[in-house]
Amino acid sequence: MGKLLRHAQENKYAVGYFESWNLESLLAVKDAAEQAGSPAIIGFNGGFLGNSKRKVAESIRIYGALGRAVAENARVPMSLILNEATEVSLLMEALEAGFKVIMHDNEGGGLSESIRINTAIVRAAHGVGAEVEAEIGELPTAEIGGALASPGEKTDPDEAARFVRETGVDALAVAIGNVHVLEGRKSRLDFDLLAELRQKVTAPLVLHGGTGIDEAELRKAIHAGICKINVGTVLRRKFINSLKGYYQTHDVDLLDPGAVTSVGGDVDMLVGARAEIAAEIVRLMRVFGSERQAASIG
Ligand code: 13P
Repeated sequence: MGKLLRHAQENKYAVGYFESWNLESLLAVKDAAEQAGSPAIIGFNGGFLGNSKRKVAESIRIYGALGRAVAENARVPMSLILNEATEVSLLMEALEAGFKVIMHDNEGGGLSESIRINTAIVRAAHGVGAEVEAEIGELPTAEIGGALASPGEKTDPDEAARFVRETGVDALAVAIGNVHVLEGRKSRLDFDLLAELRQKVTAPLVLHGGTGIDEAELRKAIHAGICKINVGTVLRRKFINSLKGYYQTHDVDLLDPGAVTSVGGDVDMLVGARAEIAAEIVRLMRVFGSERQAASIG
């Protein structure tokens, strides 16, 4: 990831992290990246995969193997992240499973605890040639309908600078007015704060909550030094809406189950869903400026 982010910083664009949750959504990122000639960061959410409410516990090793295979077979450069896991043990397992970047979700823990945890994580990750992203401050999370479920806390530039110095993390996610899972309206970014962060923090800066930020603000944020942007909710929404549309236009009782789920042809519901996710990612890659950058990454 470090190499991708350095290239992005030098060439004034951002690499997208397009979060996946199953095979179709993972392959959609590869489809899009290859079509756009763009680098990409692929991966899964540790908070979801490790969620205690899951009916079936998921093996992080299987997701790691899937992600690794996709990254290794892609025609463009990719890195693989396990994003926002609350359990440190899951992050350690992710390193063994081949994830190249890990990120801990400190869930409201204080600065000194975060420094302690991330110092240990950085040591473990760097020991196996992997990297660490962390967050200082806390993004508000939106509910369906756009109201905020949590107020969040903007990143303090001095705390952020100290955190990066003491932990050695490879990338820092910042809270500058961006909101997680925001649909139907847009967040307002604090560009004065971003400028101060860029000046004081040595690590590459990351913007989470890509779904809820409008195109003009995304471009402005990249210009101001953001070089990685996380996107999740809009891709999940495209997937859901594609399946919803499919059921409205197809009578599945009259169709061969193999054709609906497995053959990959015109009436396969997953083909349409994968294509809709990929189309949104290609659109975002243009906004991020990462289109056609893959060829010039050494
Ligand atoms: P959205 O789901 O709001 O796009 O945010 C994704 C994200 O930040 C994952 O870390």
